[in-house]
Amino acid sequence: MSIEADRVMLPAAPAGEMIHPVWVRVTHWINAVAMIVMIGSGWEIYNASPLFAFVFPREITLGGWLAGALLWHFAAMWLLALNGLVYIVLGILTGRFRRKLVPIRPGEVFADAKAAFRGKLSYDDLSVYNAVQKLLYLGVILAGVVIVLSGLAIWKPVQLQELTALFGGYDAARYVHFFAMAAIVGFLVLHVIMSLLVPKSLRAIFTGR
Ligand code: HEM
Ligand code: HEM
Repeated sequence: MSIEADRVMLPAAPAGEMIHPVWVRVTHWINAVAMIVMIGSGWEIYNASPLFAFVFPREITLGGWLAGALLWHFAAMWLLALNGLVYIVLGILTGRFRRKLVPIRPGEVFADAKAAFRGKLSYDDLSVYNAVQKLLYLGVILAGVVIVLSGLAIWKPVQLQELTALFGGYDAARYVHFFAMAAIVGFLVLHVIMSLLVPKSLRAIFTGR
């Protein structure tokens, strides 16, 4: 009885706290779907006129051929850009970015990276990101902004010529777009591996707790 009474008086245990509010979870999963469509269709677009001496295997591209891939790319870009805008605006207005993603101190990044490689990083409190997570999350958000802007620059190089010029012209914007994709794919591989290694973090991005 008395234990029960004590419980009521105590603040909620960390395990019961809301880690990811609903707007983070909804925008996260819409973004994941949109990103995968953009990556798959982008690879098919790339294959039609490769920038480098390789192409992506057809089995992992989306759209079947250039025109099909462009349709997918231009359909999912609205979802990606609008959803991303909602996430960034709410991230700023609610103070989430300020609370969870900054400051990032180089010393802490090195220390946490070292601990991570030794398997000594603590994942007890999911509501606080370690320095490596902060760096990667902020980095991928910036890569998302760059890929949308460079995408717009190569989509409408005449109407948006100031934007295209900002990237150093159409050809340079195409390279920027490509390397931003590579950064996002690199993040995604690591991100999915880490979330599978820490299953309770995966649960939290679905249920919030
Ligand atoms: C608002 C967002 C975006 C817009 C407006 C956009 C637009 C475009 C355009 C116009 C092209 C070139 C089509 C052509 O050469 O005819 C392209 C290519 C491509 N996009 Fe996007 N894109 C966006 C987001 C993304 C995202 C999120 C990814 C992947 C994470 C991505 C990956 C690619 C790739 C890999 C290519 C082929 C690169 C090349 O060979 O030039 N794009 N995109
Ligand atoms: C498709 C598979 C994906 C899985 C399984 C996944 C899983 C997760 C998990 C478990 C978390 C919470 C992690 C934590 O507590 O640190 C998370 C957060 C996050 N994910 Fe993903 N994710 C996926 C796709 C993506 C993609 C495509 C992006 C962006 C390109 C992304 C960006 C983020 C960001 C920025 C956060 C932090 C959100 C915040 O706290 O505001 N994720 N993800």
